[in-house]
Amino acid sequence: MTEHILVCTAWPYANGDLHIGHLAGAYLPPDIFARYHRLKGNKVLMVSGSDSHGTPITLRADKEGVSPRELFERFHNSFLETFQQIGLTYDLFTHTDTENHAQVSQDIFTACLENDYLFKKTEKQFFSETENRFLADRYIEGTCPHCDFEGARGDQCDNCGKLLEPTELVNPRSKNDGSTPILRETEHFYLDLGALSDGVSDYLNDEKTHWRANVRNFSLGYLKEGLRGRPITRDISWGIPIPLEGYDTKRLYVWFEAVIGYFSGSIEWAKNSGDPSAWKAWWYDPSAKSYYFIGKDNIPFHAVIWPAELLATGRRLYETDENKSLNLPYDVPANEYLNMEGAKLSTSRNWAIWAPDLLSRYDADAVRFYLTAIAPETRDTDFTFADFIRRNNDELVAAWGNLVNRVLGFAYKRYEGQVPPIGPAGLDEADKQILAEVEAGFETIGNLLGAVKLKAAQEEALRLSRLTNVYLNDKAPWKAFKENPVAAGTSIYVALRVIDNLKILFAPFLPHTCQKLHEYLGYEGQLFGRQYTQTFAETEQEHTALCYDNSQAIGRWKPSQLPTGQAMQKPGPLFKKLEPELAEEELAKLL
Ligand code: MF3
Ligand code: ZN
Repeated sequence: MTEHILVCTAWPYANGDLHIGHLAGAYLPPDIFARYHRLKGNKVLMVSGSDSHGTPITLRADKEGVSPRELFERFHNSFLETFQQIGLTYDLFTHTDTENHAQVSQDIFTACLENDYLFKKTEKQFFSETENRFLADRYIEGTCPHCDFEGARGDQCDNCGKLLEPTELVNPRSKNDGSTPILRETEHFYLDLGALSDGVSDYLNDEKTHWRANVRNFSLGYLKEGLRGRPITRDISWGIPIPLEGYDTKRLYVWFEAVIGYFSGSIEWAKNSGDPSAWKAWWYDPSAKSYYFIGKDNIPFHAVIWPAELLATGRRLYETDENKSLNLPYDVPANEYLNMEGAKLSTSRNWAIWAPDLLSRYDADAVRFYLTAIAPETRDTDFTFADFIRRNNDELVAAWGNLVNRVLGFAYKRYEGQVPPIGPAGLDEADKQILAEVEAGFETIGNLLGAVKLKAAQEEALRLSRLTNVYLNDKAPWKAFKENPVAAGTSIYVALRVIDNLKILFAPFLPHTCQKLHEYLGYEGQLFGRQYTQTFAETEQEHTALCYDNSQAIGRWKPSQLPTGQAMQKPGPLFKKLEPELAEEELAKLL
């Protein structure tokens, strides 16, 4: 049965380049997951975009003396390049400064208002007398009331992860000039989370056994502390206007509208596809499943606030059928953090490896392999160059790359560039066994991938390639060839067919090299679809997005039927061995 799988990935703030923590924590896992489901024949929609509003953008734009638009467009374009290099197959990677997104966000605001889930309240908020303006959350720093961490931001404490209101901070100060802000009255719209808390509770307590324990516990803990109304507007000028008269000096709060991007992005994708209601299959069909790939700091927004927003709309937008309701997140496979060389990644201290830099020096699949091998799925993990090089050489190259090299190289050279036939003796027990073991991978690895256990899935594929090495060492066809090339040919046929299976099992993780292997084996066509950028013009301004077309993809998640006699292509190495000395050079660059 074909399933509809919505793959949502966090919208990165377009205020700086991405680093390995972003890739491992939020952006690479959904691509592996999406590619697997596409191979399975499921209908995947993978959407995201740059988060282009909010104080993370304006803070940096102010600092550089450029406009917020100029700033976010620069990094948005850089994301598009990084994602193409590492091969992230977004059906649409757009941004939040489009007219479509503004319209959908305002419609959601209006629906919440009409359903009585918004209230207005006048509150005292921090105002900078030195700058004569209200200070948004992230312009304020202070001590966390929960854990005493001194560098807590006005919206969230990076130490204990709790969401904050700036007024909760002890010793608040302006991030711009260190001055102490004063409190001044201002009126804002609040999302009435208190009134929505029963709905959220029903949602979180409904069958969630497929959720990661950390995500489930964090969300339930958050709920238990009691949900209170949260302001969803701000006194700022960069952002989405409030669709009501008299609020010109205010904008929608970035978190209220950014999560809406999953929905607006699906709609934008459908418009571009030529079937404007195509998005509904992922949002209204109750059997469709949605997965939200994020870092753990984003859990409250995706597991609590976004479901609350959907509930507040009455779960029906752009749909008149009263029997339908919008799907709430099916799973939120949030990751823990990736550290580097034993220390927490930090953008401000430049303790990070930047994606554009890493990808300019190392192959995409080598990076994908390592970031999956150390995926922080259930606990924080550590990136070290020494470990990267070791795993590249001992696992990727030794267990998989060399297997491919020696089998394809031998077959090409000794069997006239063709897949050899099975000899008259047929397959023996060892042949049948290795084929059966590896074919079973479609189920075991498939189940792991479906359950978002990506690291275990990759390990299993690697285990199967090691088994194949054992098979080959036992058969030693290079020796047997001298006396009995026909019998040796049977072993080579079996090994090639096993490799052809492994090609698909590894494909979600290592799409670039599996495509090469596919061609070396003599096949034509693309395992996956085509990635491209496109510029779209709305009425006022254009935007460039990353797109993906899966219509020509021929890869299928099923066992190989490798035909004997198939003409192969001259094979070359899939991966590069890395010199161990590189680790020290890389470290020296960092320090
Ligand atoms: N921009 C946020 C971050 O980088 C993530 C936003 S995810 C969204 O942490 F769903 F809210 F868009
Ligand atoms: Zn704290």
